[in-house]
Amino acid sequence: MSGVVSGGRDAGTPVAGLGLFDLTGRLALVTGARRGLGLAMADALAAAGADIIGVSAHLEPSGSAVERAVTARGRAFEAYAVDFADRTAVSEFAREISGRDRPVDILVNNAGTIRRMPAAEHSDEAWDEVIAVNLSSQFVLTREVGRRMLERRAGKVIFTASVLSFQGGITVPGYAAAKSGLVGLMRALANEWAAYDVNVNAIAPGYMATDNTVALRQDPLRNKAILDRIPAGRWGRPEDLAGALLFLASPASDYVSGAIIPVDGGWLAR
Ligand SMILES: NC(=O)c1ccc[n+]([C@@H]2O[C@H](COP(=O)([O-])OP(=O)(O)OC[C@H]3O[C@@H](n4cnc5c(N)ncnc54)[C@H](OP(=O)(O)O)[C@@H]3O)[C@@H](O)[C@H]2O)c1
Repeated sequence: MSGVVSGGRDAGTPVAGLGLFDLTGRLALVTGARRGLGLAMADALAAAGADIIGVSAHLEPSGSAVERAVTARGRAFEAYAVDFADRTAVSEFAREISGRDRPVDILVNNAGTIRRMPAAEHSDEAWDEVIAVNLSSQFVLTREVGRRMLERRAGKVIFTASVLSFQGGITVPGYAAAKSGLVGLMRALANEWAAYDVNVNAIAPGYMATDNTVALRQDPLRNKAILDRIPAGRWGRPEDLAGALLFLASPASDYVSGAIIPVDGGWLAR
């Protein structure tokens, strides 16, 4: 029997073995689920038993790759298209989701965008967009969905941070600022919500092969410099996040709050 049930934790219920990672019957909301890391995380959560609400800017109402992956796992999938640069749209989405009968058990704040240009040429528009999508919208959504979790005294919130939550990066000042701010937000929420059995944590992916990093992988000099610095000697794959994600989404992490798990092939330790 699981140590966490919908509506609150079963204190003292023994949980052991792989049951620690069982998500049967849970509902997970994954942002940026249409492709890349979000798609892989939705698939991993579904494989562990969770139904999925996917949201991203351009998510198809039906027939998307993520829908196919989740339903192939025998789990239910619902799609929403919401532009996280649009505060009004995010607020409406957050209110709709948090007003439903079936509460969200797991929130994966993963939607993100990147604009690469030197700081001296970094436009207000690029800065504002990156901060809105990668930081402000995540606060708005988590506040609304999290309120229900606090009432139920159960929930898991997982942010996709970055190695640029620790480093400045190259020509991505807005992104580095947003991802650094995100870990501050994560810790602030973790501090407030741990007492309500709501675990708030983050995964910090390293350099992963997705659309987000196409420009880097196509630049022979940057590609080599990045690979030379990764102890594992390869770019990360979206499915590399599954282990850390299932840990943070499941009863296995019930006493873990405010943590950041790097999944970076050793980049940060270098
Ligand atoms: N790839 C890496 O090396 C790496 C490393 C560290 C952290 N991350 C972070 O991991 C997360 C996922 O990135 P990824 O690598 O999977 O990138 P990706 O392949 O570019 O996917 C980004 C996802 O975010 C969604 N998104 C972007 N802008 C949005 C907006 N305005 N409104 C709503 N959704 C939006 C996209 O939606 P659509 O598909 O509908 O356009 C897409 O589903 C991001 O937060 C990123 O910063 C990535």
